Amino acid sequence: MPRPRILSGMRPTGALHLGNLMGALDNWVRLQETYECFFSIVDWHSLTTDYADPSGIRDNVVEVATDWLAAGLDPERSTLFIQSQVPEHAELHLLLSMVVPVPWLERVPTYKEQQQQLTGKDLSTYGFLGYPLLQTADIIIYKADAVPVGEDQAAHVELTREIVRRFNNFYGPVFPEPKTLLTEAKRIPGTDGRKMSKSYDNAVYMKDDADTVRQKINPMITDPARMRRKDPGTPEKCPVFDLHKAFSPKETRDWAAEGCRTAGIGCLDCKAKLTDHMLERLADIHARRPEFASRPDTVWDILREGSKKARAVAQATMNEVREAMKIDYRNA
Ligand code: TRP
Ligand code: SF4
Repeated sequence: MPRPRILSGMRPTGALHLGNLMGALDNWVRLQETYECFFSIVDWHSLTTDYADPSGIRDNVVEVATDWLAAGLDPERSTLFIQSQVPEHAELHLLLSMVVPVPWLERVPTYKEQQQQLTGKDLSTYGFLGYPLLQTADIIIYKADAVPVGEDQAAHVELTREIVRRFNNFYGPVFPEPKTLLTEAKRIPGTDGRKMSKSYDNAVYMKDDADTVRQKINPMITDPARMRRKDPGTPEKCPVFDLHKAFSPKETRDWAAEGCRTAGIGCLDCKAKLTDHMLERLADIHARRPEFASRPDTVWDILREGSKKARAVAQATMNEVREAMKIDYRNA
């Protein structure tokens, strides 16, 4: 029995932080046990917002891949590849663009949201409108059975299914409809209490060493009611406690909650314990990382090999697509 296939992608944003780890990567590492996995660094997706200056993408690709390998994505088991090294994604995206009605793309919720949020950029482009369509091509070119994503991407997978139905209706059953494998969303706040994000400058990175993690967590924002050591607090109002929920075992969480409510512990005690558990979680990653970080050539080789494997699958699908659409005359 072949294992069901999944595909997921990550934009090359540079070094990955604990939000990326707990929100996606950690899950991908586990999925390798049960699925045939394709994981893509979607560099063309970065261009949809960073087209004015793409010069940073190259370094970001290798940073992301290094963190993937450090986290335990295993190139022996999973196909790790770069989207742009499989140009068939672009061909399928073009063909799908003939089929998708523009209003389907205009009503994807992320379209207007992102346009409003990323105010420094002109996102009235054709490419940005097509972002979820390019994502559709990423997914279906591998005939993925399922797509592991967070809640924020669920609408994109839903659009993918709608496009698959429309395509199959016109040309015959080429693509399966992929399922959404929803990643359970843990809240991972950054040091300022907002969602952890590179652009907020509040992130703890996977590669941060013990001292750096301590220096970031110590001044972290807490329940504002705990002004002084003797003031009791409410853990539910404290982002440090959200991190305990993600990283600490039950005994520590209970210790922190109880000590907080009774002012039995200080916030620095609470943060020191949290940092210990974060560093425990990062220990394997820190042990594996230098091997890859010191040899970027090895990382590029892994991506090149993965892209070759991915491309063979994508080319086979494109042969079927052209045949189904009766545009397979190019070798006539
Ligand atoms: N849009 C996704 C994100 O921002 C990245 C992505 C691109 C993706 N192609 C994909 C995710 C295909 C899953 C499957 O996170
Ligand atoms: Fe937050 Fe811990 Fe301080 Fe309570 S004791 S406010 S949970 S840091």
